[in-house]
Amino acid sequence: MRRRLIPVNVVIAALLFILLSLEPDQTKPPAAVMERGKTVYTKECLTCHQADGLGVQRMNPPLAKTEWVLGPKARLIKIVVNGLTDPIEIDGDTFHNPMPPHPHLTDQQVADVLTYVRNSFGNKASAVTIREVKKVRAEKKS
Ligand code: HEC
Repeated sequence: MRRRLIPVNVVIAALLFILLSLEPDQTKPPAAVMERGKTVYTKECLTCHQADGLGVQRMNPPLAKTEWVLGPKARLIKIVVNGLTDPIEIDGDTFHNPMPPHPHLTDQQVADVLTYVRNSFGNKASAVTIREVKKVRAEKKS
């Protein structure tokens, strides 16, 4: 009798591949987190970055799909906690105004607002956790 055409290990590998690709890699943050994040955003960020997250030309940069919002979380956390003074360029528009630091926000508020920003304005990225915020703040002190 002829051997089966597809070896068993190939079948197992294919099944594993299908299972893994079905696993959603980006689950939407819980509604409660998004609500809390929106509250912080409205109070602390909206006047500059605007309700639609698109900012103000040449003054306040947009938060939609920028490399800072979607990039490394530690860098993003530092921007909110410590502010930012280096000029930056986004889509050919340069921004020189400084972004003020927000040391008064709790770890929870920083995590919530950044999770909200990373999942609003067309963004889709993993949540920022309180642990991640704590870690960045601890590094800053040492
Ligand atoms: C007083 C106005 C102001 C407020 C309030 C403010 N920002 Fe900014 N933000 C700026 C400016 C101006 C820059 C650009 C700074 C630079 O060029 O050095 C910036 C830069 C950024 C960046 C990096 C660039 C980008 O657009 O991706 C992020 C992310 C950001 N802000 C998020 C926030 C969040 C979140 C809050 C609220 C917790 C906030 N900002 C509050 C004015 C503000």
